[in-house]
Amino acid sequence: MADILSDMTRARLDEYVDELFVEEDDALKAIQDEANRQQLPAISVRAFEGRLLQMLVHMVGAKKVIEIGALAGYSGVWLARALPADGKLYTLEYSSKHAAVSRASFEQAGVHDRIELIEGRAVDSLAKLVDKGPFDLVFIDADKGSYPVYLQWAIENLRPGGLVAAHNAFRSGKVIDQQSDEDRAMDAFNRAMAAESQLESFILAIGDGMAVGVKKASI
Ligand SMILES: C[S@@+](CC[C@H](N)C(=O)[O-])C[C@H]1O[C@@H](n2cnc3c(N)ncnc32)[C@H](O)[C@@H]1O
Repeated sequence: MADILSDMTRARLDEYVDELFVEEDDALKAIQDEANRQQLPAISVRAFEGRLLQMLVHMVGAKKVIEIGALAGYSGVWLARALPADGKLYTLEYSSKHAAVSRASFEQAGVHDRIELIEGRAVDSLAKLVDKGPFDLVFIDADKGSYPVYLQWAIENLRPGGLVAAHNAFRSGKVIDQQSDEDRAMDAFNRAMAAESQLESFILAIGDGMAVGVKKASI
């Protein structure tokens, strides 16, 4: 059996992957700088998770994508850049401050033409988006307690072969050492993903864990 990787080796391997496959350009760095200046919480995906999101877009040939939780627009720019010219990202954000920062980020990165930011509670925005479906990819990265509701919506509104991805599946390890309602909600969500018969699911053990599920073709 292979040796278990030490934390230090793991960190060095993350750097190795970063160096080979991840390019965080000036526009992406500027988004994080602006998020810090605006004192937004530092809870965006990391650069290699952004790159992973791009890979998922390419792997399912996604054209119509939904993101739940925009923050400063960091992951939104990674996602939008992976879309074809006629692709569209709908990103949903509750906070008007975060929405304003995201809009500026999308302009600055030159991807605003393929992104529609919808302000408000995600459940309300999702209800209004049903007519625009089916969707190719739904990325969940917002309030953990609502993840099961977002998952159900995704299953109903993805095309067969479409993909749902959820960030923070590991909650920095707290899904196996739960201390808060959010930890318990994330554990319940992961279990729901695993048990869901309409999905082929897994957790990619990258960064803070990315739960992924591909919608099966209906029989
Ligand atoms: C983890 S951050 C998103 C990070 C972003 N995806 C990134 O990686 O750059 C979560 C965002 O979801 C928003 N949010 C939380 N609850 C929400 C809700 N019910 N509806 C819409 N947005 C919500 C928060 O305001 C916050 O901006």
